Amino acid sequence: MKCTAIAPTNIAIIKYWGKEPEWEEEHIPTKSSLSFTVKELYTKTTVDAGEGNGGLEFHLNGERKEKEDQAYEYVLKFFERLRRVVPEIGNYDYRIISKNNFPTAAGFASSASGFSALVKAIAGVMKEEKWFEEYSGEKELSVFARLGSGSAARSIPCKGGVVVWKRGERKKNVSETSYAESVVSPEFLQEISIIYVKIQEEEKKIKSRKGMKMSVETNPLYWEWVNYEEEKLLPETIGFLKGKNFKGVFENIMKASNNLHQICMGTYPPIIYLNEKSREVIERIHEFNEEEIKAAYTFDAGPNAVVFTTKGHEKKVMKMLEKIVGKKRLLLTAVGEGPRYVEEHLEV
Ligand code: DP6
Repeated sequence: MKCTAIAPTNIAIIKYWGKEPEWEEEHIPTKSSLSFTVKELYTKTTVDAGEGNGGLEFHLNGERKEKEDQAYEYVLKFFERLRRVVPEIGNYDYRIISKNNFPTAAGFASSASGFSALVKAIAGVMKEEKWFEEYSGEKELSVFARLGSGSAARSIPCKGGVVVWKRGERKKNVSETSYAESVVSPEFLQEISIIYVKIQEEEKKIKSRKGMKMSVETNPLYWEWVNYEEEKLLPETIGFLKGKNFKGVFENIMKASNNLHQICMGTYPPIIYLNEKSREVIERIHEFNEEEIKAAYTFDAGPNAVVFTTKGHEKKVMKMLEKIVGKKRLLLTAVGEGPRYVEEHLEV
């Protein structure tokens, strides 16, 4: 049984940074997060499943991954977690072939598109099985993707656009209530441009998984940040998006990014992801916004920036970024749709 899915990456505009200590293994986030589904940056995954007992063969970007590779270990762990929820998953052997289309200009790798494409493809393979029926909804698939990597939950909703991943209700079955759903459609946000700015090729110094754990454990202001963003910044940003108040959206995007890096800085020992060039991007954008907010930046667990603006200001912003990193390091895209199935399978 074979199925192939394509799933987009997403860029968080209100960040996920930390798991609830009690439910760390299930990737239950301490707070809700919000993201834009990104057009044109995606993972394509073919899953071939046959009768078996959980065997796994995994190919990523043309390379067969072995047990000692971290990518293999992540996928293996994901299957272990999934089997705890859906034991029937263990009755097959899997061959997974996965490819990212990220052009080198993007300068980032994402587990978000990877695990969402994998979950969609598994769902496609299993869709004829009677036992799978109760798991085939979007909510359930978002929960499954979350078990692979938290941010992957946000790449599951088919409508894409702006997606909120809820932290879930703090009760026994918390896992079922922490999933993502689309809150604003991509058509509604056609005016927004997204620019990936590659500042550095280098792999993340401290991977998000480890970094966020350090922040939860050592930053004395961690829970203040969680409450502030959950109660104020997130609902306010959704309201701004629905009302197309882009000034408000952009301002909150920058605040949320700064808050994340402040949380990293207050971690002990401190985690510093931004470098000189990142700071230059921040400063240039604030200069550009002096009279009116027309653009925003965001940074994840690395120095590379993602910049947002509206179509009317796109050329100016591109020029400004070109001066900092050069034309080849910019990638212009937009808000897009969620995952889909394709007929053409990947071959080893
Ligand atoms: C900074 O989803 O990669 O990009 O759940 O441990 O796999 P795990 O973490 P991951 O973390 C992403 C962190 C971030 C912010 C975000 O995407 O919200």
